[in-house]
Amino acid sequence: MTPPPIAAGSAPGKIILFGEHAVVYGHPAIAVPLSQVRAQARVVASSSCTVAAIDIRHQVAVASAPDDDPFALIIRLVCAELGQPLPPWRIEVRSDIPIASGLGSGAAISAALARAVLAAFSASLPPSRLSELVYEVEKLHHGTPSGIDNTVVVYEQPVWFVRGQAPQAFGVGARLPIVVADTGVPSPTRVAVADVRHGWQADPSHYEALFERIAACSRQARRAIEAGDLRTLGVLMNENQALLTEIDVSSPELARLVRCARQAGALGAKLSGGGRGGNMIALVAPERVASVVAALETCARRVIQTELLPHASGTDSDPGQSS
Ligand code: MEV
Repeated sequence: MTPPPIAAGSAPGKIILFGEHAVVYGHPAIAVPLSQVRAQARVVASSSCTVAAIDIRHQVAVASAPDDDPFALIIRLVCAELGQPLPPWRIEVRSDIPIASGLGSGAAISAALARAVLAAFSASLPPSRLSELVYEVEKLHHGTPSGIDNTVVVYEQPVWFVRGQAPQAFGVGARLPIVVADTGVPSPTRVAVADVRHGWQADPSHYEALFERIAACSRQARRAIEAGDLRTLGVLMNENQALLTEIDVSSPELARLVRCARQAGALGAKLSGGGRGGNMIALVAPERVASVVAALETCARRVIQTELLPHASGTDSDPGQSS
């Protein structure tokens, strides 16, 4: 019989509302947690330290796993941070966040594993430090990650993110319903990020100009979110999608879902995350949500409804203050 868990931890998925790819080059981006999907980890007593990713039937001994095993790496990093030897625990993780789909699956799995191990040691870390540890694992997944995924899944709040800076909270002026639709085409972020880098290296001034226009969308979007101006936000989403298409990270499947959402009445739609496949997000006025969801259900692998709820930007919504 499996022994009862000693401890557990979890972390949400994420969506990027504005600014993906440009954020790798120091421009601002806006990301929000997607708590409808989560990674869940638990720790049970065992004879040695092992980590198991149940969904993909991957299990390794933490002490002898290769350096590039992301599951073992986060356990080693947490134990080293606490000054603890590897404990005799089996640490398991499950997730309903699709892999390689732009929803932050890798970062959420690392954060859930870290939280379960911290809880089993009756320890905690400030979110800024936990985010740094998860970032170390993100480097295995992404090559040159900006740090936005680890930040949003650890803080579990909407964030205004600039690489190398502390994340900022911001106010939300009105309810923002968002529909997320999966193309069903897996697309590793590492590949899309590397291709954009090649394009940037070949023609830096063209790419810098595109990144600057994406950054302008992010800045205007923050103001529109704070003002609760859904109409402007939808226009900016469409503009951001056009720019992402120009840097060649959209795909026929993404374009089809974007079209489907817009035709069904969405205010705006764009890919979210690395692109080339994965998920699309659509901003929808509350009264149109049902028809956009129904339309997307006919052509997407999976549809998730989420929303940002109105709140003022204050201490209790400051990512720097939460754990
Ligand atoms: C991935 O969720 C977002 C990208 O901008 C990569 C990154 O920021 O590390 C594509």
